[in-house]
Order: sequence, then structure tokens, then C-alpha cells
Amino acid sequence: MISGHGSIDAAVRATKLGAFDFLEKPLSVERTLIVLKNALEAKRLRSENLEFRRQFQSRSVLVGDSVPIKALRQQIGLMAPTNGRVLIYGESGTGKELVARAIHAQSLRKDSMFVEVNCAAIPEDLIESELFGHRKGAFAGAAAEKEGKFRKADGGTLFLDEVGDMSLKTQSKVLRTLDEGRFAPLGEDELVMVDVRVIAATNKDLEDEISKGNFREDLFYRLNVIPFYVPPLRERKEDVPALARHFLKEFSQAYQRPREITEDALDALLRYSWPGNVRELRNVIERIVIMNPTIARLDRKHLPTLVFREGSRRPWAEFSSLHEARAAYERDYILKKLDENHGNVSRTAEVLGLERSHLYRKMKALGIAVKE
Ligand SMILES: Nc1ncnc2c1ncn2[C@@H]1O[C@H](COP(=O)(O)OP(=O)(O)OP(=O)(O)O)[C@@H](O)[C@H]1O
Ligand SMILES: [Mg+2]
Repeated sequence: MISGHGSIDAAVRATKLGAFDFLEKPLSVERTLIVLKNALEAKRLRSENLEFRRQFQSRSVLVGDSVPIKALRQQIGLMAPTNGRVLIYGESGTGKELVARAIHAQSLRKDSMFVEVNCAAIPEDLIESELFGHRKGAFAGAAAEKEGKFRKADGGTLFLDEVGDMSLKTQSKVLRTLDEGRFAPLGEDELVMVDVRVIAATNKDLEDEISKGNFREDLFYRLNVIPFYVPPLRERKEDVPALARHFLKEFSQAYQRPREITEDALDALLRYSWPGNVRELRNVIERIVIMNPTIARLDRKHLPTLVFREGSRRPWAEFSSLHEARAAYERDYILKKLDENHGNVSRTAEVLGLERSHLYRKMKALGIAVKE
């Protein structure tokens, strides 16, 4: 707003109506330019922020229509708007962090921070200062003041990942903080008040850890107000196709090439047991997108041999003849050797003591795809 009749009143009104600044005549060109620059910068930051938030929201969508995932989505919808503490169980790579993000994204705290702390990744002697912060000089090496994660998450959500790896000493301080809603940073006497919702995750059996004396029972009950369990992917295989397509879309966008995946390839993915869960599936999809830059339709033959390894490993009783059993074993064995030699047929033939052409024929007969 530019005006020749500058009064405090008018300036206040203009700002209230959305003006970025109020300039009085006569105009100073320099000042005007600075104000314009600042206004543009503020606008850019605002839209950038909006974009980040949109990305965060879209990255916290749980893909999958299996019964347990549907139930999880419903549970999240019910408890996200409350302040209830959640403890998420599940094997590595099942999506525990994603569930935590989804809870935050649907909570009343969504406009505040989601702060993550991986308790297993931080050395024992640093975790307290990481969580609670410290004053300059609080201990040897504390060269500057540090804001802890509890404070950073004030008004928002603190995600304590691998909470089972926290030391007993840190556990007791976390317990006190949860009970009192305040804590003292290291080297400080004054207490800091915080309003933080804590979500914790673990792939350990905490009740087991309690009986071994590694985890405080009282902290367990504070954290475990609402328990969530994310089942391993092998127990909800029907999610594999949707997840594979979801990751394919994600990586196709990242590498700017539309892709699809054949039913045959999906069928192979369904047979694999996914010991590394959803993270492993995501990695496999990323790998085939990178390794096959010109292929728009990804087929069975583009999949890494690893996913076939146990697919053919059937119980003995299922083989109806010696011939069938031998073929299955040969197939497994060749696939394993191919994998060890990064799919190089010549080298694999050498390792197996076969002629290269002989191995080719065998692979063809056993239905093993030759990578181009
Ligand atoms: N249902 C799902 N829909 C979409 N993406 C998923 C789903 N489950 C997991 N993912 C993705 O898989 C990857 C692994 O998930 P996440 O990091 O949440 O697992 P985690 O249980 O925390 O694993 P870890 O125990 O190893 O830390 C992430 O990239 C996540 O976005
Ligand atoms: Mg995790």
C-alpha cells in the first residue's frame, strides 16, 4: 500500500486487510525495491511451505486394501484427533514410521512439527542431550546451546523410533517428562514446559525386554495407551500389487518415465516372501526402474533373481515325480548362482562347470529368463 496520507490508523487497516507493507509518499525507490523483494520472497516461501506440506501429506498415505491395512487406516482415523499415545509394533520395514506420520498428518497437530528420533542410531551418551537439549558448557564438548527434540516438537508430535533401545537412565527422564509435561535441559535448573504427543515404535518385544530388566514397565504403560500392530508383508500379500504399482508410479515420476508392470511380473512378486517387508519391495521396484531405463512395460524377466529364489522352493510332498523335484532344485541352484554372478551367464556357466550354450538351454527349459 502506498499512500500520501500516512496515518497509523490507515497503516494498521491496510495491514489487517492483507497489505505486506505500508509506504508513505514521497517514495524512496530503494526502499520500495527492498519491500517488493521481501514481499516476493515471503510469497515464495509461503508456496514452498505449502508444497512441502502437501508432499508430507501425500507421503503419509497408507497404500493397501488388505484387511489389516484397512483396519489400521480406520484405527488411525479414530485416534489421530485425540492426544492418545501410540506404540507401534512391527517387523523392520513394515511401515511403522509411515503409520506415525499418518497419525500426525490427521491429527489436530498437523500444522506443527513431526519430529523423529531414532533411539537406536544415537550413541548412549548423546541421547539425553538429543532429546532434552543442553546449555552451552553443560558437559565437555557442549560448545553451543542445543535445542532438544522435545522442545522442537512442542505443539506437535515426537516420534520415538526403536524406543526399546533407550537406556534405563534416559527412560526415566522420558517418563518424568511425560508425567509432568516439563523437563530440564542438561546443565539447566529451570524447567521447560512442553505440549508434545509421543508416538513410539519398536520391533522388539517390549514385554520381553521388561522381564529381562531392559525396559521400564511404568514407561511401557505410559507409551502403550493405544497399541498398533503393522503385520509383515508376507501375511498380507494381497497388498503387493497395489504397493508395487504405487512405488512404480513414485519412481517413474522421479525418473520422468511412465511405466507399467505386467500381471506375470506381479505374480512373481506375489510368490516371494519379502523378509525385508515393504521397504524391500520398494527397493526392488526402484532397482528395476533404474536398471531398465528404456523399458516401459516391466515384465518378469526384469525382476532381480532374488525374488525367484524361494518362490520355487516347494515342500517335497508337492512334487509328483523325481523329474519335477530335480528340475525345481536345478532351477533354484542356477538362480542362486546367477544371482551371485550378477546375472552374468558366461561367468555362471564357468562356475557351474558347464558350456555357456548348455547353460542357456537349461535355463530356457527351466523357464529362467535371460536378462538382456
Ligand atoms: N502401506 C504402505 N503404503 C505405502 N508405502 C509404504 C507402506 N508401508 C511402508 N511403506 C514405505 O516403505 C518404506 C518403509 O517403511 P517405514 O520406514 O515406515 O518402515 P519401518 O517399519 O519404520 O521400518 P524400520 O523398522 O526398518 O525402521 C517407506 O519408504 C514407506 O514409505
Ligand atoms: Mg522406521
